[in-house]
Amino acid sequence: MVVIHGKRELDDFLQPHRLKGINVGFVPTMGALHAGHASLLRQARTESKLVVLSIFVNPTQFNDSSDYSNYPSTIEPDLELARSEGVDVVFLPEVKNIYGDSAHAETSDYGSLTRVFEGEKRTGHFDGVVTVVRRLFNIVQPQMAFFGEKDLQQLAVIRHLARLEFPSIRIVGCPLIRDADGLALSSRNVRIPKEGRVHALKLHEALLNVAQAADTQNSIGSAVEANRKALSENEHIQLEYFDAVNGESFEVLKGNEVPKGAFAIVAAVVSGVRLIDNCRL
Ligand code: PAJ
Repeated sequence: MVVIHGKRELDDFLQPHRLKGINVGFVPTMGALHAGHASLLRQARTESKLVVLSIFVNPTQFNDSSDYSNYPSTIEPDLELARSEGVDVVFLPEVKNIYGDSAHAETSDYGSLTRVFEGEKRTGHFDGVVTVVRRLFNIVQPQMAFFGEKDLQQLAVIRHLARLEFPSIRIVGCPLIRDADGLALSSRNVRIPKEGRVHALKLHEALLNVAQAADTQNSIGSAVEANRKALSENEHIQLEYFDAVNGESFEVLKGNEVPKGAFAIVAAVVSGVRLIDNCRL
């Protein structure tokens, strides 16, 4: 496994592989790697010849500066995990490698997809995500790129970006990985205090209730309402949204129909930590 910091150095390393037509699979991350990231790396390992992992805490996608400055960094264990998953190249750029002297995001307006839910609650977040992924795609030039369903709206936004600007890159969506108790794995979970975990788990339970209503053809609308109400009345949870949506367009489901590709989605702050989760319906 090689660890590369500079854009030019990475290009020099990748160019001979590109000329040989070697299939490059790319997994972009912000580090503090866990089993969710590992599952993306494993899928990339099985589907591509050369696996490139990037670790870059992207300043332009944080709408909250303390979230950026507190973002966990665990570089040595990250490299260990990368090695054990058979990663070939770790790209570890610095902010100036990606942004030069001014770290600014370009605006991306994908209609309501970039305006609702995460787009509404985290103003500018998707501008930052699209900007960095666009730059990373241009640097790495992969054939395939792997993203988790944990960040479901991000996955839809990246699919849209690829359709518009990188039609030759196949975007692979990978399943959401949970801890044994059901909590969706996230780099931010280390910030949840022990006593907060039981409240954090309520988010997953509420999603499962909606999925169960969908399975039993019960009224999905009333399941969403009842679970949204229960979460919003929980004094330990600051609910931001709880809805059932189309997982591509992020339009809220209407009536009691549950079309293919529908998901229940949630975002909330629990013990000072913002969490998002979702469940396929
Ligand atoms: P990060 O939060 O580090 O996540 C990197 C990738 O891992 C994303 O595709 C995310 O969806 C996936 N992931 C995280 N937790 C997961 C889980 N529990 N199960 C499955 N996949 C999971 O997402 C980002 O970084 C950034 O926005 C990035 C795309 C790198 C751009 O900066």
